Amino acid sequence: MYLRSFADGDGDGVGDLVGLRRRLPYLADLGVDAVWVTPWNPSPMADGGYDVADYRDIDPLFGTLADADALLAEAHAAGIRVITDLVANHTSDRHPWFVAGLAAGPGGSPERERYFFRDGRAGGAEPPNDWISAFGGRAWTRVVEPDGRPGQWYLHLFAPEQPDLDWAHPGVREEFDEILRFWFDRGVDGFRVDAAPAMAKAAELPDAGHAPGAAFESRRWVGNPHWDVDGVHDILRRWRRIGDSYDGDRLFVTEAVVNGPERLSRYVRADEMHTTFNFDYLTAPWDAAALRQVVDSTLAALAPTGAPATWVLSSHDETRHVTRFGRACTGAGFGGAALAPSPSDLGLGLRRARAAALLTLALPGSAYLYQGEELGLPEVEDLPEEVLQDPTWIRSGHTVRGRDGCRVPIPWGGQVPPFDFSAPGVQPWLPQPAGWAGSTVAAQQADPGSVLALYRSAIRLRRSLRGTGMAWRDVGDDVLAFDRGDVLRCLVNLGTGPVDLAGHGRVALASGPVDGWLPPDTAVWLRPIDPGLA
Ligand code: GLC
Repeated sequence: MYLRSFADGDGDGVGDLVGLRRRLPYLADLGVDAVWVTPWNPSPMADGGYDVADYRDIDPLFGTLADADALLAEAHAAGIRVITDLVANHTSDRHPWFVAGLAAGPGGSPERERYFFRDGRAGGAEPPNDWISAFGGRAWTRVVEPDGRPGQWYLHLFAPEQPDLDWAHPGVREEFDEILRFWFDRGVDGFRVDAAPAMAKAAELPDAGHAPGAAFESRRWVGNPHWDVDGVHDILRRWRRIGDSYDGDRLFVTEAVVNGPERLSRYVRADEMHTTFNFDYLTAPWDAAALRQVVDSTLAALAPTGAPATWVLSSHDETRHVTRFGRACTGAGFGGAALAPSPSDLGLGLRRARAAALLTLALPGSAYLYQGEELGLPEVEDLPEEVLQDPTWIRSGHTVRGRDGCRVPIPWGGQVPPFDFSAPGVQPWLPQPAGWAGSTVAAQQADPGSVLALYRSAIRLRRSLRGTGMAWRDVGDDVLAFDRGDVLRCLVNLGTGPVDLAGHGRVALASGPVDGWLPPDTAVWLRPIDPGLA
């Protein structure tokens, strides 16, 4: 859940905790087990809240600590767990620690040791090394010292407003132990660990060997000094011990965009995190062989750890998959940055997105949905330039629009913006397309053929898959076909011709019209017809 864009309870055009609390019945009805809420802490919002200035409070935009307590109580009463975001690689540049570091000046001041302040090369004029930022450009910014002169540089693997913490510093480790306990004590059920592979750096901060203008391609890197460094795992183990010290289930899920399933599986070793997001699946093209390869390699790499797989198609960082699947090139690059936008056939994209939902929800493990995908929302690609807020837009010199197009507020009802996201007449923080009346929750609730109805049915049926294994069936190269135990068969047609459904079972759910044949870009769930299997 991207909190800023989910539901606005106080009429300021920004989603908040009161809005989310009011919509809990919707989430319960949808059938979700848990919500992961993007950062809610006080933040200057240089990166949509991923720049935290105070880890023990709620940003006034979103409400108060009392609202968070009420949300936790009400969500739990509705059978929904709440996972919050832990942004620990970096703080905001307005965090008291960083402010103190700036004020302390150079010369070995202890206030600077919690971050990476370093002297520049070439007499100070050049950054200390060649590291790059995920949002484009170099990862170092030079500070103006208290005496008014240009001085040291500090490291930020994301925006300059997000200085990286030095996790080798004991005070940093201890502070985050307490932050975890603060939220666990309040009843939070778990954490989504932001940018986990960034948290440890190679000693002495050596050059990475990046070519000039290199892109931040963390899925290709191995042995990189600022990404997926082994020390990350010490931090994760420390947090796992804290989670395990609490009664009940406390869950950790990492965001780890790393080089393939084997590197990824290190994040979920028995004493580390419980689960980790699967970016190989998220970025896979709409292609049977590619998807099957990702599923197989994911399950094989995770098997020794015992951790369940996760499957995700969209997020607040990615081009919405309805739009992605309607393009000639259907794969994704992280943050929508790596692939230039191209025209999308949204009808085709929606057909594929519906099919992909049935594929995703049939796979073994946990599935994460991004708000609005259950409404079939497309990326909003024509936001006026003056409303764009993603730091990527500025840091790319206004060449990469960034992630705002997937963060447009949810349309809940009504015929015109703000579509019940906010009170009538209020302008949401990002404008919604005028044509979204047919996509609102209210419109889809009334339509049994809607995307929302499909998701609801699939989530309900999916419960019967718990504990069942998965076995591929051979139905041709362009078809993904597998059984979940003897409970369900899933068939997804990624080819160009129809597939005969005879002998596969009784249709329980389909992503589009099926009449004995499965059309292209369509998926179906079947119940066994063999009485021996029933
Ligand atoms: C993660 C978040 C993203 C944020 C970045 C920096 O990738 O998902 O939204 O910009 O970390 O914190």
